[in-house]
Formats: sequence, C-alpha cells, structure tokens
Amino acid sequence: MSDHLHELQPVAPLGEGYVTTGDAVPRIDGRAKVTGQARYAAEIAVDGLVHGAVVNAAIARGRIVAVHDQEARAVPGVLDVLWHGHRPEAPQLAHYFETGEDFSTVPVKPLVGDRVHYAGQPVVLVLAQRWEAARYAAGLVRIDYEVEAHETDLLRHRADSRAPRELDEDTAPPKPRGDADAAFAAAPFKIDAEFHQGAEHHNPMELHASTVIFEEGGRLTIHDKNQGGYGTRRRLAKVFGLDESQLTLLNTFVGGAFGSGLRPQYNLLLAMVGALHLRRAVRVVLTRQQMFTFGHRPEIWQRVRLAAERDGTLKALIHEAVGETSRVDDYTEMVTRWSGTLYRCENLRGDYRVLPLDLPTPLDMRAPGAASGLFPLEVAMDELAHALGMDPLTLRLRNYAERAPASDKPYSSKKLRECYALAAQRFGWSQRDPKPRSMREGDELVGWGMASGQWIAEQEEAQARVVLHTDGHLDVATAASDIGTGTATVLAQLAASALGVPLQDVRVHIADTRLPEAPTEGGSSHVASVGSAVDGACEKLRKKVWQLARAIAGSPLAGSKLAEVEFVGGRVRLRKSPGDALVLHEVLAASGAGQFEAHFHLEPDEDEQGRYERAVHSAVFCEVRIDEAMGTVRVTRVVSAVAAGRIINALTARSQVLGGIVWGIGQALHEGTLIDHALGRFMTVDLANYHVPVNADIHTLDVSFVPEDDRIVSRLGAKGVGEIGALGVAAAISNAIWHATGRRIRTLPMTPEKVMAP
Ligand code: MOS
Repeated sequence: MSDHLHELQPVAPLGEGYVTTGDAVPRIDGRAKVTGQARYAAEIAVDGLVHGAVVNAAIARGRIVAVHDQEARAVPGVLDVLWHGHRPEAPQLAHYFETGEDFSTVPVKPLVGDRVHYAGQPVVLVLAQRWEAARYAAGLVRIDYEVEAHETDLLRHRADSRAPRELDEDTAPPKPRGDADAAFAAAPFKIDAEFHQGAEHHNPMELHASTVIFEEGGRLTIHDKNQGGYGTRRRLAKVFGLDESQLTLLNTFVGGAFGSGLRPQYNLLLAMVGALHLRRAVRVVLTRQQMFTFGHRPEIWQRVRLAAERDGTLKALIHEAVGETSRVDDYTEMVTRWSGTLYRCENLRGDYRVLPLDLPTPLDMRAPGAASGLFPLEVAMDELAHALGMDPLTLRLRNYAERAPASDKPYSSKKLRECYALAAQRFGWSQRDPKPRSMREGDELVGWGMASGQWIAEQEEAQARVVLHTDGHLDVATAASDIGTGTATVLAQLAASALGVPLQDVRVHIADTRLPEAPTEGGSSHVASVGSAVDGACEKLRKKVWQLARAIAGSPLAGSKLAEVEFVGGRVRLRKSPGDALVLHEVLAASGAGQFEAHFHLEPDEDEQGRYERAVHSAVFCEVRIDEAMGTVRVTRVVSAVAAGRIINALTARSQVLGGIVWGIGQALHEGTLIDHALGRFMTVDLANYHVPVNADIHTLDVSFVPEDDRIVSRLGAKGVGEIGALGVAAAISNAIWHATGRRIRTLPMTPEKVMAP
C-alpha cells in the first residue's frame, strides 16, 4: 500500500455532479433521446435486414378457408408469404407450429391455425427485402373466410357474464364483512348507481416493434419493445421450444408502454418466425392502426351501492363489476378490491365477473383495475356526500380507514390524511360553495370536485451488480427496464449517492438479459425492486471499500465501525469528523486490484410484507370550466398530493404524476375505443379518431408529495409513483362536472353530448 494516503486531502463541500437521494436529477438519457441518438427496437441497424408486414383478420369470428397470396408473391423483393396453410419447414420452428395455440403464455400465436378469434388477429406475414415492398404486398393478400356470428357488446350480453376461472388475492373481490345487503336496506341514506367505461388503448408514442437478428449457430439477438427482457425471453423460449441461453433480449429504449409491453406482442412472434425461417435478421413493426389489434383496457360495467348513517358513517358498501374478456383467455384485474381497502365499512361485499366476447384478450393498462374500479366508488362517495348534505372531504375523513377494512391488516404506511389536507389547502377547497351551479365566470360554469386515489405498493425479486473502478467510474448493472419513467436515472442517482461519486462517473447498464436478472417493469414497483437491489449491492461495496480504507497504515478510519463512516464527495470519511477522509479511488488504487465488485440478490420478505396492507395514496382536487351550450369541459386546475414513500428523484417522480394526471384527464374526457358491433371490430383505430389529451387540454397541474418513508415495502423507504398519478382524476372531474352543472355523469369518457344542457 502506498503512503500518500496518509496525506489527507481537504474535503470540499458537495460539488458539481454529486447527488443525493431526493434530488431532482434530470434524465441521464435525456440528451440521447432528444438528439435522436437513442436507438429504439425498430431503428437497430442490421445488414441484410428483412422486413415483415402483417395482414390482420377482417372478421370477428370464424375460419380462414383460403389465402390468395399469388399477387403478393409476385411483388419484386418479396421473399415469402407465410400463413397457416403455408408454414415454414425449418426444424427450429416445429415446436412453435406443432404445439398449437397457447393463450396463457402469449395473447395470440399467429399462423398456427385457421381459427379467427377476433377482428385484427394477425393471420399472414409477408417477408420482403424492403419495408415498402412488404407493406405493398400485404395489401394484395386476399383472404376467404367462413364467418360465424360474433358478440362484442358488453352491455347487451352482460347477463351472460360468469365468474373468472381464476382469481388471486388482488383480483378477487374484497373478503365479505357483515351483511352488506341487509345493512344497505336498513340504512337511512343510500346511493345505488350504475357506471360504464368503454375500452381504452395504450397508444404509446413508439409503435410495437421487434428486430430479431439470426446469428451463426442459431443464436438470436432480439431488440424488442417490452417492459421486461427476462420475462419476454421466458415466454419466447416456451413458445418456440428454445433454450433461454440461445436468446439475448434487449429493450434498450422504450418509448412508452403503459402495460402494452408486459407480454410479448405478435410483432415479436412473427419476427422470430421470419428469422428462424429465413435464417436472417427480420424486423416487424406494427402500424398505428395495428396498435389497436391486441390488448387494451377492458370495457367494464359496474354498480356501486353505498349506505350511511346521518353522521356519514358508512354502513354498507356493495361493489359489483362485469369486465370484458376474450373467448380464449380470462383477463382479470384489480377492480373491486379498492372497495375493501380505502374506507372503513363494517358491511362489505364485492362481486367481479367477466364476459367473454369475440375481441382481443384485454391487457393491463396503467393502474389496471384501479383506474376502472376507483371511478364508481369515488363518484358514489360524492353522491352520498351530497345526499347527506356533507362536504365530500369530510365524508371521506369520517370513514378514514386506520386498518385495511377487508383484510384487517395494518397499513405499512398511510399518509392519505396528510394528502387530503395538503391538496385541499393548496386548492383552496374550504372556499367551495357546496351548491351545484353556484359558480360561473363569463359563459362558463365552474365546478370543483375531489377524489381519493390508491394503488398497490409492491416489491419484486431483483438482482444487481455494481463495480467500482480505480479510475473512479462506477458501473451499475441490472436487466431493469426503463419504459420512459426514468428508471436508469434513478438507479444512477442511487448508486452515485450511496458511494458518494459524481453522477457523471456512473455508467448504468440495463435492459439486456446478459445482465443480472430483474423483474418486468410493472405495477410501479421497479424502483422498490431494482432500486433496492442496486442499493443492496452498493452497501456491500461500501463495506469492502471501508474495510480496505480502515486497514491502510495510519488510516483515520482505523478502528471505525461501518455505521460511523459516510461516502460523500468522492471520499470515505468519519461522520463525526468529516475532515478525516480518504479519497475513494486512491483507496482502491492502494489495494492493487483493478476493480471492486458487489452483487446483490433482493428477495422480498413476503411473510413480513404480507402482514401489512401496502399501498400508495393520493388526494386529487380539480376545477372544471364548462360551456353548457357546447358541452365542452376544460380542466383548468388539478391539485394532486401523493404519498408514495420516500421520493428518490423529485424531478422524475413529479413527471410521473404529471403524466398520470394527463392520463386521468384522457380517461375522463377523451379516451374510449368505439366498437362497430355489426362488424365486431374497433373503429377508432388511429390517433385522429381515438382522442388523447393534447397540450391545449392541459392547464395548471400542481403536484406535491407528502413525506413518507416505508421500510416494509423497500429498504429505500420508497413505494412507487408510476400509476398513482392517474388515479382519482376521472372521478374528481366527474364530481366537478356535477358541481358545475348539476349533471351526474357515470359513463366514461364524459364527451360533450353527455355534458351539454338538454
Ligand atoms: Mo403497468 S399496467 O403494470 O405496465
């Protein structure tokens, strides 16, 4: 060991580039994204790339009897046209075709059979040397069908719904308590209302795309838009009968997904088929219209009954739901559970059923189940408050649950009361005149509404590796996904903060199955999961460095305990005398080793976590301005206060909630996929006809976080902020529309014809 370590360097205060937990850190990948340097799955450069174009079924239900592909085959540059009657012979594809359909692993396995399960099902793949040729040829393919009668109308066939084949703790209705029906009948104040929400589609900016690169020896390197490389690889290996070690999955950059990337979509399966068939690199990119040919947030019908005493005490809560699913698989989500976790109520009952229709299997979409299920609950609470002549916030506080009502578990943390107080104060709620139609400005009626939000706080198994180099660089490696949320930035920040190195010295490696295993990014649990794994690895690394630093002759850290030192400003030093410090990379250099490495495998303590109800909470207050003659609603102000555990990155967390609020405004006013029931297919299948909020729809958004620290959910104290921002927003807007106009709208989206004065 060298002696110069004895000469202590003066310790400067935290300088440029040093960050700590909670700081507002801009995205480390921001520059790459805005300059176009970031390469998405459809943009990977490969020599000799073949392009696939997909033909989708035009009928909702039936059988394909013939595919006329001669004209398509004659297009210059077309290499092949694949369909169930013209399958490739490659032995590597035998498993895919011979095992038939497998809806539990992937939503649909294209080209394996002649059955059409829904309109838009992928049925033909055209492979060509150029994208234009593939697409042109795809347009020349003609298909003969044997058409069968279809059903796509949830409201019309609702009576045919049935119990889902399988429910888990989260998707099952809340455990019943008391006698809800008797209590409802006996209570003096009650609300009984039906609600409806149409299907919604994810519509991320980036289209679903896969580039599958066939390599010597049959190995495949796959660039795909998805939310989890390991999970995608597992399903692919199963469907193709391949060994996982033959497949490398990369989802380097993801331009939004919102749940549409939780499972492999058909572009990936078809690119795989093409690549294994031609033994070349194949790319399949969906068109915007094709983004409407797979999973979506299901259409749902709900009925909520609430009953209360004169003082507002809830006496009965009954929540029923019927959600759409497909004929081939049961899609279920967490629709009714919130009625068992949000308010104290001694008589509780839920019922959740599904109705199989001839539509694609639905799919998780941002806050799946909660976005649907909280809407009727939070509107019914507003209706009940009005019936009682009580302020809606007071009613919620009257029934505030200190323990989760259905499970009778304590919350791991719950600062919802603080959310209500903070948001109400920032909004100015105390100024509200409860009378509907009591506020007007110019030609517009003004209304104020509020609602609560709740989402799960989960943690999943994850691994991470960190490597500190003598040149000062810190590598962070985990197969985490960053679907646009800022995960990579948060991981860099956590590592930089833990080791006290500048942010720019951290290199984050994610989104690659050659890296330590990480879960699929979903349920807003990625920071609590992979963030904790990175933090765990950093702690092990800190220990190694400290042991080394302590052993150096004359070290000021000699005899110290790990808890007595801190890693700040590129140094390891004593907390109580910060001047006694050693420069980090010099400690490493002194050891003679080139690098220090630590690996951490986070295994959530399910027994301990299972003792608690784990949730994130929010309170949302909003103001609408309505032109009754036009039926137009402007959401001029949304104030959201969120309690989501410790906030790691104040900037990206806020962005998540801002995006969530915009998403909630879309759910409330714009988004809804219309179905042509005569043809049995979605008809608003582009961004001209499927409306999402645009800049002009968004006014003042005010986001704050209530301080919270939850060490049961994660060692970081963090819960998750991806989905909570969207929750409560649609209900708050509906409640505000009622306050403005006196009209109660219980169906989404709340389009002008519903708002317009009769
Ligand atoms: Mo989210 S719907 O779990 O991607």
